[in-house]
Amino acid sequence: MKQQTIASCGSLRGEITVPGDKSISHRSIMLGSLASGTTLVHGFLEGEDSLATLQAFRTMGITIEELGGGQLRIEGRGLHGLQEPGDVIDCGNSGTTMRLMLGLLSGQSFFSVLSGDQYLRRRPMKRVVGPLGTMGARIWGRCDGERAPLAIQGGPLKAAAYESPIASAQVKSALMLAGLYADGETTVREPHLSRDHSERMLSYFGADVRPFDGGVTVVGGPNLTGQEVHVPGDISSAAFFMVAALITPGSELLIRNVGVNPTRSGIIDILRQMGGSIELVDSRERSGEPVADLLVRSSHLQGIEIGGALVPRAIDEFPVVSVAACFAEGTTVIRDAHELRVKETDRIAAMCDALNAVGGQVEPREDGMSICGMDQLSGGMVTSCGDHRIAMSMAVAALRSSKPITISDTGCTETSFPGFWQLLQHLAG
Ligand code: S3P
Repeated sequence: MKQQTIASCGSLRGEITVPGDKSISHRSIMLGSLASGTTLVHGFLEGEDSLATLQAFRTMGITIEELGGGQLRIEGRGLHGLQEPGDVIDCGNSGTTMRLMLGLLSGQSFFSVLSGDQYLRRRPMKRVVGPLGTMGARIWGRCDGERAPLAIQGGPLKAAAYESPIASAQVKSALMLAGLYADGETTVREPHLSRDHSERMLSYFGADVRPFDGGVTVVGGPNLTGQEVHVPGDISSAAFFMVAALITPGSELLIRNVGVNPTRSGIIDILRQMGGSIELVDSRERSGEPVADLLVRSSHLQGIEIGGALVPRAIDEFPVVSVAACFAEGTTVIRDAHELRVKETDRIAAMCDALNAVGGQVEPREDGMSICGMDQLSGGMVTSCGDHRIAMSMAVAALRSSKPITISDTGCTETSFPGFWQLLQHLAG
């Protein structure tokens, strides 16, 4: 099993880019495959999660050429052009692959089976399987359809109106993708707005998508047309370097070409509320997504309270937010974040255990955690629990520890951020 030892360093200075956005990369493969004609993708994330989606569509007969440097050419076959896969589709560690594909496969005229690694096979799937059932989807799985492997007998679907109890883009997107195969309008409401990449990209490919306050409606049977998609850098990956620069004295880091979609940019709001200096430079739009360069300078941080609508806007960033909070003055409280318990691992338990093991003062709450700020951590040994964001967050924590932190089980960073350790080493000297 791989491990990494990270020690504190001098200031972080210079310019970097981070790999392509994972959520947008998944969707570019899915919509490129369902569109008629060629889709060219630039900046695709060549990480294990999005490559699992790419492989899944190849097994369903789609030609996808990898041109190198994150460029893809997808020969779409239209809404009804997929073929029955001859084997189980392996979603690896990727919840987005599995949940979105459940929606999409429900509307096909063939049978398919989805599985994944030991972590994904433990994650809840009824949140998608249940509402898809009301549209007429036929899906079977372990624990009464809660856990993968999941078998899908595709067939005709009915349009539906669903009110989701959780703000989840994976639930919303699964239903929207199923809605493409239903007659009429499918509507999904959610308690707070989750990331809207599916809405944006579906519109960009020509679907009739109508967002409204509290939800979104998609009209079935669209003609999707192949497009050129520029995937911006992933703000969730940039977040590690944002926090690294904020907590390391004397730092000034420019992170170029980062997606700053307002449904994803909660991390910028949180860190600014804590007193972090983050400037958006050269804000622009590409392929229907807002993009900017982020200029981050080391800052004196203050503890804050975080909850409500801000939570889904930063849902993947709480591990690294908890690291920033360790070095803030006073206490930071994170609430309304139960969802962290069902991510790649239980991120509340994993971050509390890891930070406390290296001298932090963190207390778990049912729906979040409270973190007492201090000047330095002490260092030691921790595990990533096989979760990429825990591994990278603890690497950032090591930058302000008196002794190094050794992190075990670090191979998982390949799912979302190939090259993370090299980039960190390069910056930290
Ligand atoms: C994702 C949605 C989020 C996020 C995940 C990617 C997506 O999950 O945590 O990493 O691409 O739609 P939920 O929608 O379940 O919160």
